[in-house]
Amino acid sequence: MEIIVTKSYTESCKRAAKMIVAVVNEKKNAKLGLATGSTAVAAYEELKRIYKNGDVDFSDVKTVNLDEYCGLSGEHEQSYRYFMNEKFFNHVNIDKANTFVANGLGNFEENAKELDKMVYDGGTIDLQLLGIGRNGHIAFNEPGESLISCAHVENLTQSTIDANSRFFSTIDEVPTKAITMGLGNIMSAKQIIVIASGAEKADAIKGLVNGNEITTQNPSTMLKMHSNVTLIVDEELAALVGV
Ligand code: GLP
Repeated sequence: MEIIVTKSYTESCKRAAKMIVAVVNEKKNAKLGLATGSTAVAAYEELKRIYKNGDVDFSDVKTVNLDEYCGLSGEHEQSYRYFMNEKFFNHVNIDKANTFVANGLGNFEENAKELDKMVYDGGTIDLQLLGIGRNGHIAFNEPGESLISCAHVENLTQSTIDANSRFFSTIDEVPTKAITMGLGNIMSAKQIIVIASGAEKADAIKGLVNGNEITTQNPSTMLKMHSNVTLIVDEELAALVGV
């Protein structure tokens, strides 16, 4: 795993955006695996800036998102479809028909199957962008006795519900389930970039960078088995985790 340490969170996102642009400029119809969450926001900001400068073209790019909350429609302000439209898709020349975010309504099991299909549809994901949960979750694969390879419906842990409650007016509104890519889906990407920032991510990142242990109690440690992972952290977090 390559580890890049930057001066700040914004710099980390700039580095990630640059790597995404490199993939798209190399392959016009690249397939990108995309992530939501606060961490990804500045990466999308930077991609929008590069696009406005005329230095990248998304017209043939295909995307598939990691996850979506169960019970929220794509119009709900906290849905991940809404996030993607607002933070990125609406501002660049991507064809929305080429973007896939799992449907959060209807039959969740069927929607998970559709996500699983879309991960491989038309070829492998060229680059997968990832954030990380404070408990080490990637996408919505929560720590536990076992992890699941294919896309599935996941029960969210209290830690994740608490972390995500900042976006909802009351904790009762926070969805308790999500449709998520599984570990096998994520590991199938040719290249993976993880951005992490903030002291609350230190424990999770320690597990990822220190030693060789792979454990279902920190799903991000599975990434140690992938041959092309870049972790981008800022100096502050790097100091906390000892890299
Ligand atoms: C959610 C998402 C993850 C994301 C994580 C961290 O649970 N499903 O994909 O990595 O939150 O989010 P944040 O970047 O807001 O800390």
